Amino acid sequence: MDYLVIARKYRPQTFSEVSGQGVIARTLANAIRSNRVAHAYLFTGPRGVGKTSMARILAKALCCESGPTEKPCGTCQHCVMITDGSHPDVAEIDAARFSGVDAIRELSDGASFSPTMARNRIYILDEVHMLSNSAWNALLKLLEEPPAHVRFIFATTEVDKVLATVLSRCQRFDFRAIELDDIVNRLRDICAKEKAKLSDAVLFRIARAAGGGMRDAQTLLDQLIAVSDGTVNEEDLNLLLGAARGEDLDALLGDLLGGDSAKALMALERITSGGVSAATLIDQLIDQVRALLLIQTCGAASPAVQRLGLPTATLESRAAAITPEKVMRIAQILMASQQALRHGVDPRLQLELACVRIARLGEVLDVDGLLRRLERLERSGAGTPAHPR
Ligand SMILES: Nc1ncnc2c1ncn2[C@@H]1O[C@H](COP(=O)(O)OP(=O)(O)O)[C@@H](O)[C@H]1O
Ligand SMILES: [Mg+2]
Ligand SMILES: [Zn+2]
Repeated sequence: MDYLVIARKYRPQTFSEVSGQGVIARTLANAIRSNRVAHAYLFTGPRGVGKTSMARILAKALCCESGPTEKPCGTCQHCVMITDGSHPDVAEIDAARFSGVDAIRELSDGASFSPTMARNRIYILDEVHMLSNSAWNALLKLLEEPPAHVRFIFATTEVDKVLATVLSRCQRFDFRAIELDDIVNRLRDICAKEKAKLSDAVLFRIARAAGGGMRDAQTLLDQLIAVSDGTVNEEDLNLLLGAARGEDLDALLGDLLGGDSAKALMALERITSGGVSAATLIDQLIDQVRALLLIQTCGAASPAVQRLGLPTATLESRAAAITPEKVMRIAQILMASQQALRHGVDPRLQLELACVRIARLGEVLDVDGLLRRLERLERSGAGTPAHPR
């Protein structure tokens, strides 16, 4: 069998297979069932969350031999041809590449003819915000009075750039970034089918790195499986993400919490000379601190902690040895550095400053503790100063 990247191999083929876009899938399925399919749809949302997949499923639902149906069979000639992109009545046009007016004129000329073999002529226009104004003008005429058999599905990541006159003629669906758990569930299914061994912790970290994008998550998974021999561990992922190795990160954290600035700076040097960027390392440190705080608040076994996908054994003992107040101060320092990095302050300097600040926190007065001691003293009366003579 030909090698097919995971993101394409596992493209959802039915409405129910699309993760995390349940409302949209149900609305479209209902429209088909009640025969109220609009002439033009606009799918917006971040990249890799299912817009193109949903557009193709809708096309199949409309054209399927046993349709229109909310459950396209996937095996008739229409379904098969739509899946492999060869159906004569379903055109998928990438507006980023064909943004000119000529392409749209050709499209509108063709649109008036009856479909060749299906019930409808369907135009899927991707990245539609890239169309030139003259192209839109040519398209608008068609949108105003579309031939009865024509359906448009527009997709875009930048809905703000789409003309109001176009928006008003489309039924709009906003695709959301996909929830962590939905991504992990999908990845888990794929791993089972691919016979790849990945722990849930690694899957959660992949999903977090993908930031709500299913395609990005699957691409990461694909790369990981490619470099491994079937069993993928945390360090494979760190390598792929350009992140610090688990034990190096843990050593750094130990030095920071132990208040040893000199050792912390050496650990820092070791990590960054290995090619880890300051931004990535700060993100990783923030993750560790977040884990500490969550462990202190909800316990190591809580789902909130599990979702971070970090090895918790050492974190647990570290969390027990430090107050939440101190953890929060560390978090503040790291987040301030993260901000500064985004504003272009010398990354290495930021990192060093943050590390020294954190390591020296133990020497800084614990104001909360001090206040509590004062209150206790006051209540006991022991602290009442004698009257000066
Ligand atoms: N909601 C989803 N559910 C399942 N898989 C998805 C989803 N969104 C994206 N994918 C995966 O990512 C790939 C690209 O998705 P696509 O629909 O082309 O995203 P978009 O058009 O929003 O950029 C698909 O082939 C599929 O493997
Ligand atoms: Mg797309
Ligand atoms: Zn079919």
